[in-house]
Amino acid sequence: MNSSHQFDEIAPTWDSDPVKVARALAVAEGIRNRVPLTRQMHALEYGCGTGLLGFALQACLGRITLADSSPGMLATLDEKIAAARSSNLHSMKLDLTSDPLPAERYDLICSLMTFHHIDDTGGLLRDLFALLGSPGYLCVADLDTEDGSFHGPGFAGHNGFDRGLLEHAAQAVGFHSIEFATVFHMSKPDSTGQTEFPVFLMVAAK
Ligand SMILES: C[S@@+](CC[C@H](N)C(=O)[O-])C[C@H]1O[C@@H](n2cnc3c(N)ncnc32)[C@H](O)[C@@H]1O
Repeated sequence: MNSSHQFDEIAPTWDSDPVKVARALAVAEGIRNRVPLTRQMHALEYGCGTGLLGFALQACLGRITLADSSPGMLATLDEKIAAARSSNLHSMKLDLTSDPLPAERYDLICSLMTFHHIDDTGGLLRDLFALLGSPGYLCVADLDTEDGSFHGPGFAGHNGFDRGLLEHAAQAVGFHSIEFATVFHMSKPDSTGQTEFPVFLMVAAK
């Protein structure tokens, strides 16, 4: 289900979509409001794309490793890190569906709109649990269950997530104190008007 070549192509113009920028800012605010972030924390953003979420959180954290499987996304991200002279942001090529687990352990892992691209949600949650120190926090933002119209025909990923099922999957690998909130709304035109796509934020503790 890895569609990194598709992301390679759109990476250079990713940040020109104001909805994507606003979405990352809203999710960052949701994380700041729910997790006691400190400048001592080392965070991992998994499926970071061009790093919109990581950039929005960087002032509250000590260090952020921004990981993605798409070389194009990482090239755009590296340009942004260099332009901003950000010494606390570092990129990493990582695909947990095929790469070994990195040795580093993190205080916080966040992920925005990436879970729906990865087939084995349980396996991903297991890997992210292993990558967290204890105590540690996992923050996942993604779409609620939708009818497939968000991506349209041909998309092979998840059509959003049922919150109850995702909570159960997170509990099954060891997470606790799991909470959900709606932190952003997207909408797309359809034949009858507009379809709404709420974005949830799940915060889970290790
Ligand atoms: C919808 S984009 C979201 C990017 C960014 N989080 C944002 O919200 O702007 C999904 C991202 O997940 C990445 N991705 C997809 N499958 C992945 C995998 N197996 N491992 C790591 N990253 C993956 C893609 O390359 C892409 O950058």
